[in-house]
Amino acid sequence: MRNYLIEDLPHYFEDYKKSIKNPKKFWDKIADENFVWYQRWSKVVKYDMNEAKISWFKNAKLNITKNCLDRHLSVRGDKTAIIWEPNDPKEEAQHISYSELYKRVNKTANVLRDMGIEKGNRVCIYLPMIPELAITMLACAKLGAIHSVIFAGFSASAVASRVNDCEAKMVITSDGSYRGNKILDLKSIVDEALEKTPSVEKVLVVKRTQNEVSMKENRDFWMENLYENASPDFVSVIMDAEDPLFILYTSGSTGKPKGMLHTCAGYMVYTAYTFKNVFNYKENDIYWCTADIGWITGHSYILYGPLLNGATTVIFEGVPTYPQPDRFWEVIEKHKITQFYTAPTAIRSLAKESVEWVDKHDLSTLKVIGSVGEPINEEAWHWFNDHVGKKKCPIVDTWWQTETGGIMISPLPFVTPTKPTYATLPLPGIQPVLMDDKRNEIMGNQVTGNLCIRFPWPGIARTIWGDHQRYKETYFTAFPGKYFTGDGALRDEVGYYRITGRVDDVIIVSGHNLGTAPIEDSINQHPAVAESAIVGYPHDIKGNALYGYVVLKETGESRQRENLKKEINQLISEQIGPIAKLDKIQFVSGLPKTRSGKIMRRILRKIAEGDFTNFGDITTLLNPEIVEEIKNERI
Ligand code: WTA
Repeated sequence: MRNYLIEDLPHYFEDYKKSIKNPKKFWDKIADENFVWYQRWSKVVKYDMNEAKISWFKNAKLNITKNCLDRHLSVRGDKTAIIWEPNDPKEEAQHISYSELYKRVNKTANVLRDMGIEKGNRVCIYLPMIPELAITMLACAKLGAIHSVIFAGFSASAVASRVNDCEAKMVITSDGSYRGNKILDLKSIVDEALEKTPSVEKVLVVKRTQNEVSMKENRDFWMENLYENASPDFVSVIMDAEDPLFILYTSGSTGKPKGMLHTCAGYMVYTAYTFKNVFNYKENDIYWCTADIGWITGHSYILYGPLLNGATTVIFEGVPTYPQPDRFWEVIEKHKITQFYTAPTAIRSLAKESVEWVDKHDLSTLKVIGSVGEPINEEAWHWFNDHVGKKKCPIVDTWWQTETGGIMISPLPFVTPTKPTYATLPLPGIQPVLMDDKRNEIMGNQVTGNLCIRFPWPGIARTIWGDHQRYKETYFTAFPGKYFTGDGALRDEVGYYRITGRVDDVIIVSGHNLGTAPIEDSINQHPAVAESAIVGYPHDIKGNALYGYVVLKETGESRQRENLKKEINQLISEQIGPIAKLDKIQFVSGLPKTRSGKIMRRILRKIAEGDFTNFGDITTLLNPEIVEEIKNERI
């Protein structure tokens, strides 16, 4: 049992109390003291949580890249902004200074403008983890174009649906991508996607792998040719506080991905503030987040948060196990990393390797280590603490979402005592509440419920691109007046939060959010499939793995079924990406359904987990007999 109360954490509690008592004053001061603005705001926040209308720093004028780049030039122009560590350790790392980055962003912004990109246009970026990924994002921000980065592991049809949803005018990609000992041919994936995307006028191609690619005349251009002749001067476009900065797609519980829209000022203020405080960032630190920039973690905590603070941030192209399972530890030693931010799935897979891989490297520069993306289990937490942090680095278990823009619940290093598996306390300005299924707020401690947030914060996504109604329904109707996260949480005896996992139809596999609906949609397109249901089950490395129950149109023999399994996974790979492949597929003669036709996923989940107890009253099902069959044939 713990022997202190939150009230005994004076630094935290005082700040927190003030921030909650007067959030406007709290954020006004942060925005005022830490950024350059062309024009100040007339109102800190305006919101209507029922209509899901939120704006921050109304009428302020800014450009986020002035804050990421320009203002650092006089004080830290020669300081390294980006350390790029390539996939192959034999290839030399690049150190890009703030002034060099500034120049490269300007030149790229000129290239985009010359290719017809203007303020408000959407540009999809489908690139590996190379400096050009960061540079093209910043170039878009500089000229006011809205970037939408698509993770470079997505398939052609996933690319096409995102490009079409935001009606992108341009796609930026590369001739290929290195991942461990594999080369991925990104350009042909883009070519296939672009057969169905009428909005795209131009494609810029960055050279990386020297792969032979086909270039379509008047549509496809080599970036390096255009870049060479571009001017190094570019005047930032003046943006309104609420102008869009970027769209980033995330899975939802229906088939279509949600294009979460983040805006300029609020996102800037929130990512800068959270980066500095959660990672206890100091001027000469060298910070490394291992996420891919294609996810929100990379947007906020590889790119924007660090650069807004004038930090040195590492972009790593490779994978943790290439060429050997000590790559992470080798990179920490090589670049003298002070803050290391990674995901539970990576920790679990590296913890499976001999601890000698870690021990042979000098990790003594580390001060703070962090985890994000899914709940971190106790064993992984201790392994991370003992072998990586050597019991001297606080672990920041950071809970947040694509929708929240930045970290919401996390320990503050050297302030908040950590507790394994707990994200601990809300950051100043953030007001979590737990709600029961009857929409009542659950008061007191030692309780569990649906995690909601009471008051808006600057980093919250403002809408779903092109579908405000869906935004309102998804986040603001289940618990009126509050933002609903889709997660469940527990609040312990001192008020610490532990995230227990999703309470909706999103499954987190290796830290990636996957909606069940789009995967089921893909499976159902197989001509032999009548219907299907996907659930998650615990997996010791990935956190969750996918279990599919598939009803066939007609029964085939078992050999054909093995083929069918391969074909189903092939289909998922093509339509979504290999990350969504099923680990187990069970062919069943029907799915348990309620009388209104809703699939009883709760029962399917229990069977997949191997837990045959407490199915509840199954007699009310339309087809209760099916449960026994599914149970007996579980894989
Ligand atoms: C989960 C990633 C437990 C959660 C930044 C959330 C976590 C979803 C944690 C968002 C954590 C993220 N502990 N669960 N520290 N961090 N999650 O949008 O279910 O990719 O709703 O954003 O990941 O995933 P997303």
